[in-house]
Amino acid sequence: HVAVLDFGSQYTQLIVRRVRELGFFAKLYEPEDLSQIGKPGAIILSGGPKSTSDEDAPDIDFDQLDAFGVPVLGVCYGMQLLNIKFGGAVKASNRREYGPAGLLPLVSEGLYEGISHESQVWMSHSDTVSELPDNAVVLASNREDVPVSLKWGERYYGIQFHPEVTHSHEGLRILHNFLLQAGELEEFHIEDFKRELIDGIREKVGDKQVVCGVSGGVDSTVLAVLLKEAGVNVRAIFVDHGLMRLDEGDEVRNNFHRMGVEIETVDCSELFMSKLAGVADPEEKRKIIGNLFIDVFWNTVGNAEMLAQGTLYPDVIESASNAKSKASVIKTHHNRVARILELQEQGKVLEPLAELFKDEVRELGVSLGIPSDILNRHPFPGPGLAVRCPGDITEKKLRIIRECDDIFIGRLKDYEWYDKVWQAYAGLIPVKTVGVKGDERSYEWAISLRAVVSEDAMTADWVELPPALLRETSNRILNEVDGINRVLYDISTKPPASIEWE
Ligand code: XMP
Repeated sequence: HVAVLDFGSQYTQLIVRRVRELGFFAKLYEPEDLSQIGKPGAIILSGGPKSTSDEDAPDIDFDQLDAFGVPVLGVCYGMQLLNIKFGGAVKASNRREYGPAGLLPLVSEGLYEGISHESQVWMSHSDTVSELPDNAVVLASNREDVPVSLKWGERYYGIQFHPEVTHSHEGLRILHNFLLQAGELEEFHIEDFKRELIDGIREKVGDKQVVCGVSGGVDSTVLAVLLKEAGVNVRAIFVDHGLMRLDEGDEVRNNFHRMGVEIETVDCSELFMSKLAGVADPEEKRKIIGNLFIDVFWNTVGNAEMLAQGTLYPDVIESASNAKSKASVIKTHHNRVARILELQEQGKVLEPLAELFKDEVRELGVSLGIPSDILNRHPFPGPGLAVRCPGDITEKKLRIIRECDDIFIGRLKDYEWYDKVWQAYAGLIPVKTVGVKGDERSYEWAISLRAVVSEDAMTADWVELPPALLRETSNRILNEVDGINRVLYDISTKPPASIEWE
């Protein structure tokens, strides 16, 4: 297999996933756990948020690493660390480099076989390699002639950019080229993976009573069907927290009915709204919602012994909830709040999908026979419209968001753009500006439309929607939705923005 060592980059698991996508089995390890790796065919060192000069910079036992005798690839922080291990130096650069950059390979074999000149790659770093050791060869540079890819000796490779994100156009090919340097590698297939997941669930659950929250989203739907397939004792609960979109509850119930999975609805909108009243801080909102979910699950299923969640890898990494994790907390996803982490420590949380990305979950869903329109619903966050409603949450704001969202999503479907975007929504900008409606002055809020493409929610790009679609959406919102006099379109990439407002 391919061992990926995690130095805390937001993209580490993405490396694992890319390797799987190339058809090989990959597993994630902490850099201090080299002794647990067994017999890898290749090793990849991830990027990370630290600088190699930081006092608490993560390190690696180089002799132990070298003893595996297999090809090693250092990405970003991983490359800088390798350069230091070989006797070179790294310095803080005077500017941070984020986003797209041109890659100029200086060789056309090995890592760069078939890679074009000035191929676009994705950078996200502030340190750069400043001194090269004697055994280093520069394999590629950027437009400013700075080395962005190195080879040390025969088996060690380094790249400054992130080949694992889709914005590095030929990144997958570069990774594949690296893996070709290894001998024969263990293969990966989704059907085997499904069987492994089901066996794992049966073993972990035994005859315990499981409660599984379903939201109608892809993740919890696939999880509920997987649990049913595993034949464990489960009750699926749909919590209507009052932060759903227009008519969403009916749609969700209808979808589960079609799949023959029984769910129980609990209407808790009053409870959620009362606990959220007056709360404006995004993290506080997220925590209140996440903890309330648990209360509701536990109160509804009195004898519950385990909680099953459709947590995916991006939720884990962005909440940086793994105690050993070297990553920064970006936002606390509703399924990573303190109460849940406590349950997790007691071994009461079941998260079979936590290593996967959305499109892998969809692939798993296909192999479980879930209809494609259900699998292709846009992602919708657990905290619902709360994260699209900056400031305190009120019924008036929610009504406006629901109406605008419904118009926008409706137009996306009419224009056949719904399936071409990863996720789209309307989010409120609770700032009043002056306009004129009829012959009257208006002083009202603005709504922001967002449509992004992404493969894994880790990075995202805004979508160039047809002007006619945007025009029709805007006209309808301005004419039909009471309380809005301005419609904006969000043209921010992630990073540095995120997909949701909060
Ligand atoms: P961000 O805003 O972090 O969103 O760029 C990335 C993806 O995750 C979804 N999201 C969540 N999903 N619970 C969820 O189940 C959450 O707390 C949560 N927060 C964000 C978001 O909709 C996007 O698809």
